[in-house]
Amino acid sequence: MKKTKLAIGMGVAIATTSVATTLSAAGDMVPVKAMADALHLVMDSDRTIYTRKIVNRLVKKEKVIKASEHFEDDKALVLPAQMFRFGAELVKKRMEKKPDVDFSYSLQSLWPINKQNAPKTKAEKEGLKFVAENKGKNYYTEETLGGKKYFTAVYADTGVAPVCVSCHNKHKDTPKKDFKIGDVMGGVVIRIPIGG
Ligand code: HEC
Repeated sequence: MKKTKLAIGMGVAIATTSVATTLSAAGDMVPVKAMADALHLVMDSDRTIYTRKIVNRLVKKEKVIKASEHFEDDKALVLPAQMFRFGAELVKKRMEKKPDVDFSYSLQSLWPINKQNAPKTKAEKEGLKFVAENKGKNYYTEETLGGKKYFTAVYADTGVAPVCVSCHNKHKDTPKKDFKIGDVMGGVVIRIPIGG
């Protein structure tokens, strides 16, 4: 007890500057991988909950409504992939007013229903292949695009509910019709600019 008090008392004068430095360093230097992992945890949890508690429950279990790409015309639920993209588009728009925040994300697949969701860069292709072949592992790399350097992370997107698999397997535009529950169906790509 006495020892602690003494140490605090002695530390006051010199501690002020060193604490400030430590705090600002910690504030400025969230490792880019930890930031990508945290972003992914939030987006993947939201996506899983939307699919399980809304789409799977209302479409497959209770059969009260459909989910459809043409949700307005069909008076149907927004597809999980559309929900995800609408969020990503709103983030992009809102970020225009936040110069300190910069990242982008998208849902892609090596077996896309929508060709726009096929990988485009080498890192995206390698990352999607890696997460499909190495269950439970993420893919991290750096890439330079348009003269700018990025940290790029790819996370598996998994068929977490029966409705994921059934809808994809029977969709007219799918190149793959044998997805099973728990399979990696694609991946989430998160890209964060890094200096250098
Ligand atoms: C009711 C049908 C339906 C359900 C349910 C559904 N999807 Fe999809 N999914 C689609 C369609 C259609 C697209 C293409 C949509 C677009 O990009 O406009 C798509 C897009 C995707 C993509 C991007 C690549 C591609 O195929 O275009 C992935 C990955 C994906 N879905 C995985 C899943 C997973 C995992 C679930 C469950 C959590 C799920 N989907 C639930 C129909 C569905």
